[in-house]
Amino acid sequence: MAKLWGGRFTKNTNELVEQMNASITFDQKLLDEDIQGSIAHVNMLARCGIVTEGESEKIKDGLKKVHQKLNDGEVSYSIAHEDIHMNIESLLHDEIGPVAGKLHTARSRNDQVATDMHLYLKKQVQHLMGLLKSVQEAIVKQASEHVNTILPGYTHLQRAQPVSFAHHLLAYFWMFQRDLERMADSLKRINILPLGAGAIAGTTFPIDREMVAEELGFDAIYPNSMDAVSDRDFIVEFLSHASILMMHISRLSEELIIWSSQEFQFVELDDAFCTGSSMMPQKKNPDIPELLRGKTGRVYGHLMGLLTTLKGLPLTYNKDMQEDKEGMFDTVETLTMALEVLAPMLLTMEVKKENMYQAVRNDYSNATDLADYLVRKGTPFREAHEITGKAVLYAIQKQKSLLDLSLEEYYQFSNLVDNDIYAAIEPEQVVAARNNMGGTSQEQVKKQLEMAEQILNED
Ligand code: ARG
Repeated sequence: MAKLWGGRFTKNTNELVEQMNASITFDQKLLDEDIQGSIAHVNMLARCGIVTEGESEKIKDGLKKVHQKLNDGEVSYSIAHEDIHMNIESLLHDEIGPVAGKLHTARSRNDQVATDMHLYLKKQVQHLMGLLKSVQEAIVKQASEHVNTILPGYTHLQRAQPVSFAHHLLAYFWMFQRDLERMADSLKRINILPLGAGAIAGTTFPIDREMVAEELGFDAIYPNSMDAVSDRDFIVEFLSHASILMMHISRLSEELIIWSSQEFQFVELDDAFCTGSSMMPQKKNPDIPELLRGKTGRVYGHLMGLLTTLKGLPLTYNKDMQEDKEGMFDTVETLTMALEVLAPMLLTMEVKKENMYQAVRNDYSNATDLADYLVRKGTPFREAHEITGKAVLYAIQKQKSLLDLSLEEYYQFSNLVDNDIYAAIEPEQVVAARNNMGGTSQEQVKKQLEMAEQILNED
């Protein structure tokens, strides 16, 4: 097939080269953006007198028809035309004849592809931000029902101190809030127009980049044509933010997996979000959180892949940069799916309050509060720590909880212990007592919920 760049060549392209060189198998995802960019470009060419109004109308009509026909499957892409840009141009030629050739005036695929990527990522990041917000809403919804639900909080995966389940869930709200803020901030660097940079140095035609920026909704224009065509920071940044977000999703998933194990039984995921075993009839497996945890790896991989591709690339465009696309598309698709499934999975999970409570009722996660109690009665903290440690060891040996020790038993360790010890170390009180800002007390958690709700209601 004749190439759009065939003038300088005397031989046909080697078939393997054609396959390796082509990106159409994946960059067809940029169809909408490529058409949108071309329409803005040709509008500008006409307004600047570089093509006539008549030519511009013809080209725009043609582009719309090509768009339609591609969507309807009436025409198809070909490897011989390499990428989305040249496939569209060639189909446009079939549609309207030689005037199609005027579309590419004052433009190169280098600034064209960069423009498409910016448009694509802007749309996707905005969409992902909406999905992230629904995950936050699901968290707030569950949290608001569990302010008074108490479970053990862990450090080193050992019981540490009892916490409100709402407090535990809301920790993820704030992680996702930072993810959202990072994404919102990245839009500043995504929403910049490369078009007009030409292949590298600009163009000899009297174009108007501001007009194009305005039509495409860009807030700014790259001030340097060489930077415009070589910059892929905005994709690296997206992949970094996506990696951090996936890391959060993965940590939450891991907790859901642990919590739904037979050993914990703190939550039960809805049947609709679990699968069975082909051999063991009793199994209900948390495949979805496992997949979310697992998919984190590929997103990190895409980040490393692109950083490595770009490392040491001289200015400006190099074909290496065609490798920027698949990882980006896959990350967008992975994140979209992850966030879409996470919200309903969180909303529908059953929280087994009683099991959570029994866990804290019978463990030693109130030991800090026994020590603090002794401190309030005048014992120095270090000494109180030692006394409490001995009391815990004794209780473990007797297979009792600290709440089950009698006053006589406490006297072996300290004569400062009184009847009020029992109220001070029961789980409800242990949680309520952590009433400083950011603490797990019901009062503080309610304040936190209000803050979260206020954030969700903004804009
Ligand atoms: N398909 C190419 C890419 O995605 C478009 C840019 C090609 N430019 C070039 N000078 N060969 O990177």
